[in-house]
Amino acid sequence: MIENLEDEILELKAKRNAIILAHYYQNQEIQEIADFVGDSYELSKIAKNNSADVIVLCGVRFMAESAKILSPHKKVILPAINAGCPMADMANAPSLNKLKNEHKNAKVVCYINSSVEVKALSDACCTSSNAVKIVKNIDSNDIIFLPDKNLGSYVKEQVPNKNIILWNGFCRVHDMVTPENIIEAKKLKENLKVLVHPECSYNVRELADFIGSTASMIRYVSSDKDTCEYLIVTETGIMYKMREANPDKKFHTLNKMICVNMKATKLEDIYLSLKNMTNEINIEESIRKKAFDALNNMLILGR
Ligand code: 13P
Ligand code: SF4
Repeated sequence: MIENLEDEILELKAKRNAIILAHYYQNQEIQEIADFVGDSYELSKIAKNNSADVIVLCGVRFMAESAKILSPHKKVILPAINAGCPMADMANAPSLNKLKNEHKNAKVVCYINSSVEVKALSDACCTSSNAVKIVKNIDSNDIIFLPDKNLGSYVKEQVPNKNIILWNGFCRVHDMVTPENIIEAKKLKENLKVLVHPECSYNVRELADFIGSTASMIRYVSSDKDTCEYLIVTETGIMYKMREANPDKKFHTLNKMICVNMKATKLEDIYLSLKNMTNEINIEESIRKKAFDALNNMLILGR
């Protein structure tokens, strides 16, 4: 029986010179123990620029893989080793190669929510916070964008002068939100501002007052001077940091928006993987190098 899991983790963290990174969708106790909580873009930047020997990535597989791609000499641990992103699994290397052959002039921009093999075949990665910028800045008029059709169509609306070829992937958590969900919530609260993640469908985004990544939603609310209430249309885990940053504001969520993969990490998983140094992510070096170029291009083009 472990007396105090948090203390044990902190002790192991010091012993291993480890850093704990968590995504906003993680369970509250994980966010509380993390050294840094952020969106996919922020987590990738920290993964690249820190002096730890071990990165414990509390999130899903593509996040831990991205950390390993960017920091190959560090040990990267994914405590919930089976936590994947179903949307990332909707794209694979053979299908992408086929599409590339059909559009030989196109450059490939892949959402960071993708496998290392897909990243290795891409010219640049992006996250929801910089997708528009990356597509604008990449030196091609024809762009294959994958795997998220919703984020891709949002980018298409923002960059109408480019020819963007979409993939048919989506995030179930965001794609299942309907316009009716928003309309119903607005009926109940007159003075409601709606913040929507770009992984939601066009019909939902159309009803938004603000569209952006998890981190930009928090920034938006923090700097908003209106006296209103907010409907936050993304995974409900974001509410921990949202409320912490805005203790005087009132929020509503759609309770069905839960990503089971993001919720898979438990304190015990962190403790056991740090104690036994298990659940490590390893990537074959030739693939890692190619995926590195795509991720690094994101960090350059997104500056
Ligand atoms: P962010 O890039 O906004 O953190 O989103 C990641 C994600 O998985 C959204 O579902
Ligand atoms: Fe993947 Fe959606 Fe979960 Fe994000 S919320 S990790 S896109 S399944």
